[in-house]
Amino acid sequence: MTAAPFPLVAAGRDAAATLAAAHARCFDAPWDAGTFDAVLAIPGTSALTARPPEGPPAGLAVFRLTVDEGELLTLAVVPEHRGAGLGRRLLDGVLATAVAGGARRMVLEVATDNTAARRLYAAAGFGEAGRRRAYYPRPGDRPADALILARTLPPDG
Ligand SMILES: CC(C)(COP(=O)(O)OP(=O)(O)OC[C@H]1O[C@@H](n2cnc3c(N)ncnc32)[C@H](O)[C@@H]1OP(=O)(O)O)[C@@H](O)C(=O)NCCC(=O)NCCS
Repeated sequence: MTAAPFPLVAAGRDAAATLAAAHARCFDAPWDAGTFDAVLAIPGTSALTARPPEGPPAGLAVFRLTVDEGELLTLAVVPEHRGAGLGRRLLDGVLATAVAGGARRMVLEVATDNTAARRLYAAAGFGEAGRRRAYYPRPGDRPADALILARTLPPDG
C-alpha cells in the first residue's frame, strides 16, 4: 500500500477533543480531551496530525522538545489508515521538527508486545536504551514491560 498523501498539519489545544476522539480509536487506555489540553499546554509540546481532505485526523503524534532532546509522547494512526506509511510519515515529521528545534536525541517508550510500533521505531533507527519492567497492565495476563527507545539526531546523521 502506498502512503496516503495527507498533509501533516500542526494542531493546538483547540483540537484537544478531535485528538482525543482519534486517540480513543487507537488505544485501550486513551488520553481524553482534558489530557490533550493539559499536555499541549506544557511549553515545548506540540501535536502533528495527518489530515485527510475532510473529516477527522487519520493519525497524530504529540512530542515535547527540551533543550536538546525530544520525547515522542504518543503516536497513532486510526485503524482504517494503517499500513499505508502514515505512521512513518508522522514519525519522520516529528524527527524533522525536533531537528529544526535543535534536538540531538529523540526518546520514546513502547510496550514490548506492540509489534507494529516496535518495527516502525526499529526501521526509523531507534534502539533500546532502557526497560521498565511490568509497566503496562494487561488484564488477564502478565503486565508488559516498557522499552525506552532512543536515537541520535539528525535522522541522516
Ligand atoms: C504503530 C502504528 C502507529 C503504525 O502506523 P502505520 O501507519 O500502520 O505504520 P506504517 O504504515 O507507516 O508502517 C511503518 C512500519 O511499521 C511497521 N509496521 C506497521 N504495521 C505493522 C504491523 N501490523 N505488523 C508489523 N509491523 C508493522 C513496519 O515495519 C512498517 O514498515 P513496512 O511497511 O516497510 O514493513 C499503528 O499501528 C497504530 O496506531 N497502532 C496503535 C497505537 C500504537 O500502538 N501507537 C504506538 C505507541 S508506542
